Amino acid sequence: MSKTDIGIGLVGSGFMGRCHANAFRSVSGLFDLPGTPALRVLADATQDIADRAAGQLGFDRATGDWSDLVSDPAVDIVAITAPNVLHAPIAHAAIKAGKTVYCEKPLSTTAAIALEMTQAAEAAGVVTMVGFNFQRNPMIRLARDIIESGEIGEVTGFRGRHAENYMADPDAPHSFRTDPAGGGALADIGSHIISMARYLLGPIAEVQGDCTTIHPTRPIRPGSSDRAPVDVDDMTHALLRFDRGVSGSIEANWAATGRTMDLSWEITGTKGALSFSQENMNELLLHSGQPGRSGYTRIEAGPAHPPYGNFCPAPGHHLGFNDLKVIEVAQLLSAHMGGENPGPDFREAYEVQRTVEAVQTSHAERSWVTL
Ligand SMILES: NC(=O)c1ccc[n+]([C@@H]2O[C@H](COP(=O)([O-])OP(=O)(O)OC[C@H]3O[C@@H](n4cnc5c(N)ncnc54)[C@H](O)[C@@H]3O)[C@@H](O)[C@H]2O)c1
Repeated sequence: MSKTDIGIGLVGSGFMGRCHANAFRSVSGLFDLPGTPALRVLADATQDIADRAAGQLGFDRATGDWSDLVSDPAVDIVAITAPNVLHAPIAHAAIKAGKTVYCEKPLSTTAAIALEMTQAAEAAGVVTMVGFNFQRNPMIRLARDIIESGEIGEVTGFRGRHAENYMADPDAPHSFRTDPAGGGALADIGSHIISMARYLLGPIAEVQGDCTTIHPTRPIRPGSSDRAPVDVDDMTHALLRFDRGVSGSIEANWAATGRTMDLSWEITGTKGALSFSQENMNELLLHSGQPGRSGYTRIEAGPAHPPYGNFCPAPGHHLGFNDLKVIEVAQLLSAHMGGENPGPDFREAYEVQRTVEAVQTSHAERSWVTL
């Protein structure tokens, strides 16, 4: 029986654009969905870039103007992987056209703009999803199930970190990531650990932040000897207090020499504890708290942890980063076809952005900020 085609319009064909295209291409072979994605239009900054990428990634048509993509009746879902400052105008246009919107994180450049996007989407009743892909990991879902089952007792503490080294070099150039409008380590990768903290332990009530710029200037563009000041954080630490009363901390650091993907956390409870790092994304460490069992036991990802089995029938064969995007896209397509939307939707991504901004305000005011 033939399935409904779901027209995909992709804006941006860089790191994330390619990851989205790969996920849309492979999802139907791995998940039983009521519709099949059809790669219709790819938009990029110029017609030339778009033509090249559309040919390579298998889109029917290319355009150098994202508004042309949004208004194309063949496009049902608008996937936004362009620089952060473009998320809001593209999303608003897509919402107005009644399309499902799949946007990369961070949702926008400020919490106020993210709220406008959220309210517009809710008023229009369109499906939204935001690319906090790390929480699609079956090991993260298992962690949440373990916490909710009471297996580690009452949660007593959270320590989270997202540390990478891609800006450790003082000669790493400026990009949209260092644009004071919505850039910086906290917004770029701190948003991932904040969304993870909220996924595992619920809303955050109060924060106190400390933001640091490690490298005061950077080349204005790749290879340039001209340098310009850096007006965003390279590293931020924050204390958190969750609504449930638990105390915790996070670090966001894109200049963490030696670290490539340490999106990691440890959660302690009255009976046991859990520990995870994305650098070993196929394992979750559990401390059971049993007498004589000090230390952590490694739980290996396998078919017992859905949807691992969609990818492989054998444990220990490992999912990868791109598989998380495939899981995300499966959830998006299902929500688009009327199924449950597990999020994070725009509302949840706005809450993450509000937390980012509260940490920045707290740093500026040198005091706790209540959310
Ligand atoms: N979820 C994740 O794990 C993850 C990882 C990396 C990046 N991201 C997010 O994805 C987004 C893109 O990041 P990236 O690393 O892919 O960046 P990138 O620089 O590799 O790609 C950006 C793309 O947008 C295109 N672009 C620029 N201006 C445009 C315009 N006016 N119209 C259409 N396209 C335009 C660029 O040409 C490029 O193809 C950012 O919001 C970033 O925060 C998310």
